[in-house]
Amino acid sequence: APEGSTRLLDAHMPGDVEAAARLLVAGGLVAFPTETVYGLGADATNPDAVAALYAAKGRPAFNPLIAHTADAEAARRLGAFNADAALLAARFWPGPLTLVVPFAGGAGVCDLARAGLDTVALRVPSHPHARALLAAFGGAVVAPSANRSGHVSPTEAGHVMDDLSGRIHAVLDGGPTPVGVESTIVDCTGADPVLLRPGGLAREEIEAALGRPLLLPVSHSDAAPSAPGRLASHYAPRAALRLDAGEVMAGEALLTFAGARPPGIARAAVVLDLSPSGSLTEAAARLYGALRSLDAAGVPAIAVVPLPREGLGEAIADRLARAAAPRPSQSELPQ
Ligand code: TXA
Ligand code: MG
Repeated sequence: APEGSTRLLDAHMPGDVEAAARLLVAGGLVAFPTETVYGLGADATNPDAVAALYAAKGRPAFNPLIAHTADAEAARRLGAFNADAALLAARFWPGPLTLVVPFAGGAGVCDLARAGLDTVALRVPSHPHARALLAAFGGAVVAPSANRSGHVSPTEAGHVMDDLSGRIHAVLDGGPTPVGVESTIVDCTGADPVLLRPGGLAREEIEAALGRPLLLPVSHSDAAPSAPGRLASHYAPRAALRLDAGEVMAGEALLTFAGARPPGIARAAVVLDLSPSGSLTEAAARLYGALRSLDAAGVPAIAVVPLPREGLGEAIADRLARAAAPRPSQSELPQ
């Protein structure tokens, strides 16, 4: 990890985007906004930069990373797309969808970034600042979420600074990220596409495009993990979470939705409504910021009301379940 201070760059300034791209070319680590969360970017072809990226995050293991490109054509050159992958890429890129496909070979995404797998995770983000940076850089950029290992993903430049200041070269500040949860990951390496991680693109939209349901991953504990992000505790705030709470207990903060006022709400130390109007899209966008601000307020425990499970509710439920899961020891933390 680099010694010293982290430059704060402004994504609205073309000169700053150019400076961020030059840092990437030089093997530097640059956090940048995507429509989902802030990513910590490194040159996908540069194993030294990728190794420094794992070190900066404090990732205990070399998990495979998502390679981001400026357009679908560039992504298509890095992998072998079957009919399902081609259809999903055409329908949903640019956007919050990651496709896992067989790696095409070559130097475009180095072995370390793929954790030695013969597959590669590809994404074409829709965020204008991400696209500007990728276009200026000119190649694939690997980018995990720009948080310290085990922390919730950053949805603002300030969150990135809180976690990684002094450990990375720059943060390209483009304001809050609009989607707020990570991309949906679909494995297209087999005969039928598999939903590896629910995320910012709703399962229903993908299944409608495919005309058939997505499969769920089979347990892969015996093999190289296909999506370590699916391991139990991962998106963890410091406070303990209690899900589907019907009432507020003494000492708890309340994370509510659509104006719900469960019994005991008067006892709550803090009340945060993820979306007073009942929008799951807004709730997803605000989820990680809410968890970070409750942590900052120092609350020891958070009661979470039941939320609807359709649309982006599936990704929200997935992240909340992992935030509530028993904390693994540091050596078991996936990322
Ligand atoms: O929205 C997002 O996807 C964000 C932004 C920055 O693009 N990135 C992100 O990256 O969430 P990360 O590293 O936190 O999560 C990547 C996930 C991990 O669960 C990893 O195991 C999985 O993608 N993955 C990467 N390559 C894979 C592969 N070849 N096969 C299966 N899963 C893979
Ligand atoms: Mg992550």
